[in-house]
Amino acid sequence: MGPSCKSATIAAGGLLLLWVSFLAEPVRGGLVPALYVLGDSQADVGNNNHLALSPLRANFPRNGIDYPEQQATGRFSNGRNFVDFLAGKLGLTSPPPYHSISNTTPGRYSTFLTGVNFASGGAGVLGLTNKGQCFSFDHQIERDYLNVYSGLVQQLGKPQAMAHLAKSIFTVAIGGNDIIFRALPPTVTVELLAVELQVLSPQRFIELLAQNLERQLQRLYELGMRRLFFVGAAPIGCLPLMRELNLLTQECHPGANDLSVRYNAEVASLLRSMSARHPDFRYSFFDGYTALMQYIDKPQANGYAEVKAACCGLGDNKAMYRCGRVSCVCPNRTDHIFWDLVHPTETTSGNLTSVAFAGSAPFVSPVNVSQLCD
Ligand SMILES: *[C@@H]1O[C@H](CO)[C@@H](O)[C@H](O)[C@H]1NC(C)=O
Ligand SMILES: *[C@@H]1O[C@H](CO)[C@@H](O)[C@H](O)[C@H]1NC(C)=O
Ligand SMILES: *[C@@H]1O[C@H](CO)[C@@H](O)[C@H](O)[C@H]1NC(C)=O
Repeated sequence: MGPSCKSATIAAGGLLLLWVSFLAEPVRGGLVPALYVLGDSQADVGNNNHLALSPLRANFPRNGIDYPEQQATGRFSNGRNFVDFLAGKLGLTSPPPYHSISNTTPGRYSTFLTGVNFASGGAGVLGLTNKGQCFSFDHQIERDYLNVYSGLVQQLGKPQAMAHLAKSIFTVAIGGNDIIFRALPPTVTVELLAVELQVLSPQRFIELLAQNLERQLQRLYELGMRRLFFVGAAPIGCLPLMRELNLLTQECHPGANDLSVRYNAEVASLLRSMSARHPDFRYSFFDGYTALMQYIDKPQANGYAEVKAACCGLGDNKAMYRCGRVSCVCPNRTDHIFWDLVHPTETTSGNLTSVAFAGSAPFVSPVNVSQLCD
């Protein structure tokens, strides 16, 4: 790293004041009683900190460089992630990581009542995705959320607990990691994904994801979920990690983008049929592919200058190594779409959340999140 890294750090200091005053915005009364969050690293606020041996953690600099006190909380971001923005828009405090609450934490039931975040970096729809390095989606549902659900039922009685959950918002952001591992060259993934998954056609692979997801969402429905905000897959092929596979052109990886599009179509269709089956189930589906693609296709019009390179990393496009203590950090983190190899900057997360909250089709449908709260 040359002097360019140093000047970058100094320039960044000036932005901090701006963010701090923004964060001081008072929390209004909540639009809903609670927010329950499940999924992957887009939504993780520190659950993986409790997996000491997992490489899929972010609780070290330079993550959190724009977070209050430059704290590396475990969020895969320079600052806040989309859940923080969503909670803010709902008038709630961003729910704490489930794994930071122990059986003896005082007030744990009141925490359960205002929301808990179960998301874990690396998690996928399939248990095989990053197996052993994260809390899988099934684990989040069947162990962690089930424990919270049982606690609420014990405290309030089942009818009251169900009434509380029915008014709350559930957010699920899952699927991107399954796509990444399917799309990476087999030599990297062969240990992580069973060989039979690699030989499925793209469409069969996505159908397998959708079958699993349907079971998982149905289970959450049985356990009280009535209002779901589902975050569909981003254009996975355009992540700095995947662009590196095209070393010469750094074009988006078409195979991974194709999987994202197929996945979002399958998920939208399964949510439609789920709400037809259960008239008391409502949802808002965010098409992360279409929403992020508008920024990637028209950066200037959307306030971005850099759509390819990560902000934190090393090497070509800062995409050859993960963001860490020795990484370079870009001087202007509000003009980059991506923070690291895989994750958006705080600015991008905030912009996308605004679209989800108050936008319209084709980005968010059949209703936006603010309508889901009605
Ligand atoms: C993205 O967020 C930044 C910071 O809040 C804002 O200045 C910018 O206008 C937003 N861009 C879009 C496209 O929403
Ligand atoms: C950073 O980028 C944003 C968006 O392109 C721009 O508005 C702002 O002036 C830049 N800030 C600095 C310090 O260069
Ligand atoms: C979504 O949310 C906004 C603000 O709450 C609302 O005014 C708007 O009508 C909604 N968009 C659509 C397409 O319904």
